[in-house]
Amino acid sequence: MNRLKGKRILVTGGAGYIGSHVVKALGEAGCQILVYDNLSTGNRWAVLHGELVVGDLSDRTALTRAVVGFAPEAVIHFAAHIEVGESVRDPLKYYRNNTANALGLLEVLRGAGVGSLIFSSTAAVYGIPESIPVKEDAPLSPINPYGASKAMTERILADLACGDGAFRYVALRYFNVAGADPSSRIGQDYKNPTHLITRALKTAAGVYPRLEVFGTDYPTPDGTCIRDYIHVDDLASAHLAALGHLLGGGDSSVFNCGYGHGSSVREVIAVVRRVTGVDIPVVEGARREGDPPALVADSSRISAALGWTPRHDDLEYIVRTAWDWERALASRAVDSRP
Ligand SMILES: NC(=O)c1ccc[n+]([C@@H]2O[C@H](COP(=O)([O-])OP(=O)(O)OC[C@H]3O[C@@H](n4cnc5c(N)ncnc54)[C@H](O)[C@@H]3O)[C@@H](O)[C@H]2O)c1
Repeated sequence: MNRLKGKRILVTGGAGYIGSHVVKALGEAGCQILVYDNLSTGNRWAVLHGELVVGDLSDRTALTRAVVGFAPEAVIHFAAHIEVGESVRDPLKYYRNNTANALGLLEVLRGAGVGSLIFSSTAAVYGIPESIPVKEDAPLSPINPYGASKAMTERILADLACGDGAFRYVALRYFNVAGADPSSRIGQDYKNPTHLITRALKTAAGVYPRLEVFGTDYPTPDGTCIRDYIHVDDLASAHLAALGHLLGGGDSSVFNCGYGHGSSVREVIAVVRRVTGVDIPVVEGARREGDPPALVADSSRISAALGWTPRHDDLEYIVRTAWDWERALASRAVDSRP
């Protein structure tokens, strides 16, 4: 039986990359969906199901109107700024949007009696982990304002959940999210993509002249950094599992979202070359400050607690869906950015 059918779910940031894939999955599960998004990086066309309200999280009146009017049974909170480098240059922007605006959302939800929330957290809360694969109970020690802004919000959520019992949450710590809808209806559309797979594919497409590799002298088998790439549709199914857990009365929890193994930069480049058929030019540069040699999730907790089973644990599939999307995006006539 589909436990989510008919449930009313409010999705902040649902017009963005990950949010739109979760909205797709919620729609396919028969949920009623309200997306609340200011379209700063999201797109109207990315919302395949439900209704979109264009509004900013900091607009308390508009947010309250949306929450009270829709009366959601749960909220999935994606809306945030996401660029690590920008967070170093402009930390207040990140604490404002990722922490203060999350706090504001929680106040509105509390006022409206909404007691279930799923939060988009990140592996960046771990900083440079002491051991790999990293478990959820590893110390949180972010090394940039982006990671810190998310860790602070996690702390607020944990404190709130310890209060009067009226609030429960699941924080999902995403590792490296990649890939796209296999039908190429939605996918990443960042203005300034920093993610390796996207940079490599845009290099194959001729958008960038070459791909820069940051560091080839790491203590890894081929000297380049290792990351745990998770397909965005598997991440979406983790959200639906978390939603079922919360709506079924499950406890507040924190889960890593990754596959439990990683790929090196060189391995990703080899797959990108194979999938695109383009021998992308690569320049090898120095290490970038703050990049851990390896970042891989221990994802056993979410599998055991929620029965989450990934379906696309295959780098080639991830790259192929992302490449199909890049080509669809390039040929897309419409750009509905404001
Ligand atoms: N992409 C990744 O690899 C990754 C990894 C870890 C965590 N995350 C987290 O996942 C979430 C979604 O990231 P994404 O990659 O889809 O990014 P994205 O930029 O595509 O999506 C963010 C969405 O939030 C909206 N938004 C931002 N600030 C807002 C505000 N103040 N009011 C209303 N809407 C606002 C944007 O318009 C956009 O649609 C973020 O919270 C991010 O921190 C992403």
